[in-house]
Amino acid sequence: MSRQNEDERPRVSDSQSNPGADAAEAVIDVRGVHYAIGDRPIFAGLDLTVKRGLITAVMGPSGTGKTTLLRLITGEIYAGSGRVAVFGRDVGTLTSRELYATRRRMGVLFQNGALLTDLDVYENVAFPVREHTDLPESLIRKLVLTKLEAVGLRGAAELMPAELSGGMARRVALARAIVTDPEILIYDEPFVGLDPISLGVILRLVKQMNDALKITSVVVSHDVHEIATIADYSYLLSDGKVVASGTPAELARSDSATVRQFMTGGAEGPVRFHYPAPDYAEELMEVAR
Ligand SMILES: Nc1ncnc2c1ncn2[C@@H]1O[C@H](COP(=O)(O)OP(=O)(O)O)[C@@H](O)[C@H]1O
Ligand SMILES: [Mg+2]
Repeated sequence: MSRQNEDERPRVSDSQSNPGADAAEAVIDVRGVHYAIGDRPIFAGLDLTVKRGLITAVMGPSGTGKTTLLRLITGEIYAGSGRVAVFGRDVGTLTSRELYATRRRMGVLFQNGALLTDLDVYENVAFPVREHTDLPESLIRKLVLTKLEAVGLRGAAELMPAELSGGMARRVALARAIVTDPEILIYDEPFVGLDPISLGVILRLVKQMNDALKITSVVVSHDVHEIATIADYSYLLSDGKVVASGTPAELARSDSATVRQFMTGGAEGPVRFHYPAPDYAEELMEVAR
């Protein structure tokens, strides 16, 4: 029953899946991607590459499509045109079985990465292992405790989610995301709503996870300053495209007005602050009428 829709997946030619030597290091490769919701374009020719072992930041104002990009990468949605390749395979051409296998190689820390409220910390972290494997309890215990130790919360294993601070909850979610040893770890706005100390802790953990576990990290954030301190390479998105990219040093040196606006968090500049809207004065007049 669950197999029958395999053939309904959009199939795109995989003829480009023979990347050159340089591209061999690309674990995620997004080429010429167009994606629209209804008649509203979200991406209009998006190109970006995530290289193995590095921390790649994807930055852009709220509503630019950062979460949408992550959903394209995990194969939850498909590009209207262009190609999203993960581990060298176009996710649009995978069967559901292949897609499932690919997803198991990725850990995702969702934007509002909620923990299961009726399970304690230990069981929350154990959850993906129980879902995907038949490992004996002794091995599950080892995996869970190792990951909790990595985020500094082994002592909190028996706490319930309601007993955790926001920063602790995010660290538990991080332990849960790495418990199946993913090769790619994707973070959607990992710093939102954290106090400065918790934010620093998460920032350091992202870097530690990347280095110690030899993970490839993709961090999506509108917090340019935070992420710039740990990113190896950054992409700035605006209006459906990459408007700038580079190492933190390259971006800091850039004299592009767009890059400067991002880096200084200015409301004025090439990147629009307002969502497209009818004329303001006219709309106010409508209200008055
Ligand atoms: N399911 C949906 N239906 C309609 N519009 C959506 C949906 N998901 C996202 N959008 C719109 O697409 C744009 C990009 O969203 P999103 O990827 O969540 O942006 P970001 O994560 O950068 O804040 C936003 O303007 C949002 O309103
Ligand atoms: Mg988002």
